[in-house]
Amino acid sequence: MRRKLVAGNWKMNLTMAQAIAVAEGFLRFVKARESVDVLICPSFLCINKVREVLKSSHAEVGAQDVFWLDNGAFTGSVSPTMLKDVGARMCIVGHSETRGRFGKLDVPPSTVGYFAETDETVNLKIKALLYHSIPPILCVGETLTEREANATDTIIRAQLDGALQDLDASELPSLVVAYEPVWAIGTGQVCETPEAERICGMIRQHLTQKFGEEVGDHGRVLYGGSVKASNAQELFSQPNIDGGLVGGASLNAEEFSRIVMSA
Ligand code: PGA
Repeated sequence: MRRKLVAGNWKMNLTMAQAIAVAEGFLRFVKARESVDVLICPSFLCINKVREVLKSSHAEVGAQDVFWLDNGAFTGSVSPTMLKDVGARMCIVGHSETRGRFGKLDVPPSTVGYFAETDETVNLKIKALLYHSIPPILCVGETLTEREANATDTIIRAQLDGALQDLDASELPSLVVAYEPVWAIGTGQVCETPEAERICGMIRQHLTQKFGEEVGDHGRVLYGGSVKASNAQELFSQPNIDGGLVGGASLNAEEFSRIVMSA
């Protein structure tokens, strides 16, 4: 039986004082839901402080990204050892925003070029995280153009293959994959539940084919993209959806608590 996981991705939001306030607001609710794994991914700067706020609960903190080397002349980057040091227990990789695949239409081209992570860099990050025993949350998902071209399943399988290249089943006991259709992220347009369930099932099947039943059955597959308290219960009650990766709605303690409660 897979435990549900609800992860909040705060993205580039909340100052230290705001982060503490949201985490404190969330604390009393989360204690009532020990049957669900809960993770909050603040900005790098707030990881340690948010971890302190949440330490009397089972909720953990994670990071939104990582660089794949331990140290060196990589200005602006954060390594897996640094994440471990501040208490990050998981790390998001390959988010469509770090891949430069934004759901919004008004993103300046220069921004896309700046991020533009590839399957290859996602793969390097996953290997580095696993080496340091930090479970990755691997994000995959198609853009609207890809969906309209009927390429959704092919794109997702290719993202899984690229991200998990040269890894073997024994390295992936704690793998988490998040299906995040790019067009659903931050747009308020959630993927219909039957389709989200179909894709999460397809991801599980692909993992089983590649790595065997142990990984396919135990790996958790989350849905992300405009998850709210009003749609979480329906999504999370599907057999192949093991919880959610929540962006905007995780910035509000009460809304995020209600999402966790519905898992
Ligand atoms: P959203 O973001 O919930 O704001 O759509 C989800 C995500 O980017 O992980």
